[in-house]
Amino acid sequence: MFQPVKIAPSILSANFMDLKADIAAIEEAGAGYVHVDVMDGHFVPNLTMGVPLVKQLSRATDLPLDVHLMIANPLEQIPWFVDAGADSITVHAEALGVEDLVRAVALIRQGGCRAAVSLKPGTPVEAALPVLGDVDMVLVMSVEPGFSGQRYIQGSERKVAQVAEASRALGAAPLIQVDGGIGLETAPLVAAAGADVLVCGNAVFAADDPAAALRSIEAAAEAARLAALAAAGE
Ligand code: DX5
Ligand code: ZN
Repeated sequence: MFQPVKIAPSILSANFMDLKADIAAIEEAGAGYVHVDVMDGHFVPNLTMGVPLVKQLSRATDLPLDVHLMIANPLEQIPWFVDAGADSITVHAEALGVEDLVRAVALIRQGGCRAAVSLKPGTPVEAALPVLGDVDMVLVMSVEPGFSGQRYIQGSERKVAQVAEASRALGAAPLIQVDGGIGLETAPLVAAAGADVLVCGNAVFAADDPAAALRSIEAAAEAARLAALAAAGE
């Protein structure tokens, strides 16, 4: 619970023509994960990357691959991503009924990966409750999933605090990840509310110096997290 904040750069905002250089930059800057946004044109309007890229990435980097599935049929595709070398797989609560959500989390863990459940901005924390005690991470979306470069939805940090509270009540301690519009100004807000892992697309890869941008966001988030812990007397 008290580990330092980690940054998970989303390669959706990277330069696909020079992905190797972008991965090297975030490795060197101390990224915690590589965030891979998988979109199918059904669950979200956009269509992005999938299994073949995850396979190649797993050979190209030692950073853990954090695969965010924004797809309509996660149960079918989870085994493919496990085999491709994902380290952590996130499914959306909205894509699955409760029984299938439980099944998906079990399938991910049976494959030896860390499992996460994600909530869209309009989805209440209650939707994660059936798996809250079984997941390694909860992803709070701070934009509507589908596109990088969107503005952070004000107040999303309140949902981060709610997830932290619900987890505590259950005696669970999943990591809390936030995704969408996270940069120098918004990272401190979510980190103070209890976020452990911050996904950053444009704030890292659209910067002139991605490594420097990553380090400053991480430092700002960590300072805010420590200040909030001190204020709470922890
Ligand atoms: C949105 C994706 C995000 C996105 C983040 O659906 O899940 O990971 O790429 O990009 P930024 O940080 O630019 O909002
Ligand atoms: Zn994402």
